[in-house]
Amino acid sequence: MPSPNLDELKARIEAHSRRLTEALEQIRDPRSLEELRNEFLSRKRGVVTLLFEDLKTVDAEAKREAGRLVNALKTEAQSVLDAIAARLAEAAPAAKAGADSAPDPTLPGERRPYGAAHPLRLFQREIEKIFLDMGFAIEDGPEIETDFYNFGALNFPPNHPARDQWDTLYVGDDLMLRTHTSPVQIRVMEKRRPPIRIIIPGKVFRKETPDPTHAAMFFQMEGLVVDEGVTFAHLKGTLEYVLKRLFGEKTKVRFRPSYFPFTEPSAEVDIECLQCGQKDPACRVCGGTGWKEILGSGLVDPQVFKNVNIDPERYSGWAFGMGIDRLAMFSLGIPDIRYFYENDLRFNRQFTLR
Ligand code: DAH
Repeated sequence: MPSPNLDELKARIEAHSRRLTEALEQIRDPRSLEELRNEFLSRKRGVVTLLFEDLKTVDAEAKREAGRLVNALKTEAQSVLDAIAARLAEAAPAAKAGADSAPDPTLPGERRPYGAAHPLRLFQREIEKIFLDMGFAIEDGPEIETDFYNFGALNFPPNHPARDQWDTLYVGDDLMLRTHTSPVQIRVMEKRRPPIRIIIPGKVFRKETPDPTHAAMFFQMEGLVVDEGVTFAHLKGTLEYVLKRLFGEKTKVRFRPSYFPFTEPSAEVDIECLQCGQKDPACRVCGGTGWKEILGSGLVDPQVFKNVNIDPERYSGWAFGMGIDRLAMFSLGIPDIRYFYENDLRFNRQFTLR
């Protein structure tokens, strides 16, 4: 004969079960679902917890049966809650679509972040501005070049080591990714007669293993002036002016003799190390030399003029090529060239206000 306590417990469990069945149909929003979850499964005051406590009042021989019933209710509550949650999740996209078709004009708008120029581009523009102010024009040319433009017309002898495949990325027998912006000098001189006053910013490519100061792709800016009566003094005066505008009137600049196949004489240009002010023998930026090499330059070799049918007896010219990345790193205090190419906004955003 079942104990009265068990009957009473059974009746309550059945009532709870009916409540669950109703809820399964009726609940329409996540909030009511949460309330139902608390009502049944809250650890302190939930229906299931309280029923387990009531088990203590059930006669010993009926305990097993009563325990089974309470456990069954717990399982039922769990599966009803899951079923309601699944139904609400399915309905959610529809509800959202409804909201989209009737926008709430009182909500704050979504802010779109402004795009901004890359730090390298900002720096490039700064240099361009200085040359544009002096009447230079900006030119560009192809990034894939033939041996003639990249080397031959620039007076590289056939066996020059720079043609070696360790430096040059070939894409065909006679085609390569340009290793410098100098080939555009040739392209411009082929189609235009002097006077010429141009700069050529652009990408260049070399077979390099990336490290803090090398990348397989980087930016250069080339310059070329061709006219009657152009001398080394023009080269020196112009470059000094540009570098002082970039780095400050007091910046020391020095010219060192050098060699390039397409200039004669040739010079490399250094500026004093802005990092240590020529004072730190252990400086990471200049290696303690106090100077930083930033560009190559020279008077256009007469042979180069002959290659493009410009009369070297009548015309002379000067040219330079500098690494934009390198100059930007130096100017902005950036220790690793690879930062420019990682597209990390935390890096890029630091320079948008220049
Ligand atoms: N093209 C050279 C390089 O990539 C740089 C250079 C040196 C360009 C002297 C010039 C120049 O126009 O006159 O290393």
